[in-house]
Amino acid sequence: MKSLMLAAALALFATGPVLAADAGCSTVIEGNDAMKFNKASIEIPKSCKDFKVTLKHVGKLPKATMGHNWVLTKTADLQAVANEALKAGVKNDYVKPDDARVIAHTKMIGGGESTEVTVSVAKLKAGEAYSFFCSFPGHWALMKGTLTVK
Ligand code: CO
Repeated sequence: MKSLMLAAALALFATGPVLAADAGCSTVIEGNDAMKFNKASIEIPKSCKDFKVTLKHVGKLPKATMGHNWVLTKTADLQAVANEALKAGVKNDYVKPDDARVIAHTKMIGGGESTEVTVSVAKLKAGEAYSFFCSFPGHWALMKGTLTVK
């Protein structure tokens, strides 16, 4: 019993400061079986050091047929990066390895799964146009949005 209380106290200690420091430095975005994200834009406060993106696939279809990931590039790079996704292949989650144009990306997930990635805000510039998208072949046309730092 004593150890349980200690564990609870430690858990509070561990999560308290993290929640307090969060201050809008995270978001949750959902992808579904209709090949849609539930957000068309994400705004990152420039006061954030890191910004956590949690991707939830709220559909039922498997990764092989309705896979979703969250890939961040400059808007100017989106189309070229998306067009090279098929060549990168399923083994790389449709993201070309070590691609300098890819600022951050999650792994590819299927229905019922979730994943997350942390974006280093120091890598982003206020005023630059960024876009996020799903790099599963054919999805980016519908599954994309804009990201800005303000
Ligand atoms: Co997708």
